[in-house]
Order: sequence, then structure tokens, then C-alpha cells
Amino acid sequence: MKKRIAIFASGFGSNLQAIVDYAEKNEINGEIALVFSNNRNAYALERAVKQGIKNVCFSPDDFKSRQLYDREILKLLDREKIDLVVLAGYMLLVGIEILKKYKNKVLNIHPALLPSFKGTHGIKEAYDYGVKVTGVTVHFVDEGLDTGPIILQEAVSVEQNDSIEKLEEKIHTVEHKIYPLAVKYFCEERLIIKDRKVSIL
Ligand code: GRF
Repeated sequence: MKKRIAIFASGFGSNLQAIVDYAEKNEINGEIALVFSNNRNAYALERAVKQGIKNVCFSPDDFKSRQLYDREILKLLDREKIDLVVLAGYMLLVGIEILKKYKNKVLNIHPALLPSFKGTHGIKEAYDYGVKVTGVTVHFVDEGLDTGPIILQEAVSVEQNDSIEKLEEKIHTVEHKIYPLAVKYFCEERLIIKDRKVSIL
């Protein structure tokens, strides 16, 4: 059975696009069934419309509590029979109830080599720190911030003359290459987690 994938995105959605494009050209044993955003102005939603993918948007501000927001998301995932949640620039923490129900079924991409430079400014913080090597991490999401088991990592070197914009471009190029691969591996049930170490069959 093909896995039903939901992509959560709050912004530009270039990773969403990379996964959609990859799934169109390659066998991934999955289909992108839903795009969800908390941000009405997210370009990611426009991409979903263009691709003809069902898209839904609501934000925590529409609810009395964060718990009610999370429950609405859970209902949505349930209705759409979602097997995998892919965070692609989703700027909110995923609620604990969702993580419990979707344990080891939520992926995230982080624009640095975890556990370095966690949080929302991974590229800039690595650049400002003066690292010579940074990179991209795809990982399972657990209750912590960017702490879940690591699926794939790829290094990106920071050259002497690289501007921050150049580094961002290099990071995004790698993101668009490795995130679709991780999604593919998940859909083929090739990811095994043991003692927080992920092996790829
Ligand atoms: C990416 O850099 C990703 O690593 C981070 O948020 C950014 C999202 O970019 N989590 P986009 O919306 O996919 O273009």
C-alpha cells in the first residue's frame, strides 16, 4: 500500500516542491495526500494548489488553546488516513499528542549538522560562528527541539569567500536532494531505529 504523506510547511515551500517533483519522477511508494500550513500567506499553499494537492490551513490563533489546535490537526490526519508527516519549514513545534500518535512517523529537515546549531537560525548561526563545514540533517521528530534520531546528513563546506546567501543556496541544494530520499526510504519501510541509531535497509 502506498503511504499517504502530509507535508507541513509555513513558508516558501521549496522542500515541499522538491519532494513533490521527486515523487512525480520516481517510484516512492507514497503519495502526497495533503499540505498543511499554519500560515495563510505561505507560498507553500500556492504550490499545493498549483500541484492539485489538497491543502488545509489553520493557525493556533483560530483556537482557544494549543491543545485544541493540535487536536484539529490530529482529526485532519486521521480523516486523510495519513501515514507520514513531513515537516518542511513548519515553524511551530509539533504537539505532544500528535507525536504520540505518530511516533517515528514525523520527519524534519534541519539546515545544519545536528546536534550543532539547533533551532530556527541554523544557517546563520553556523556562518557567524565561522565553521568550515556545516550541512543538512534529516531526522525523526521527538519531543525535543531537533533532537530525534538522525536519518541522513550531508556536509556542506563553507569556503572563505562564501556570503551567507551563497551558503544558504548551497544548503538548500543539498536539502532538496536528501529530503526526498529520506521520504522514499520511509515509504519503503527501510528505516530501522535502534537505540536512536537509524539504519537504512
Ligand atoms: C529549510 O532550510 C529547512 O531546513 C528549514 O526551513 C527551511 C524551509 O525552507 N527547516 P522551504 O520553505 O522548504 O523553502
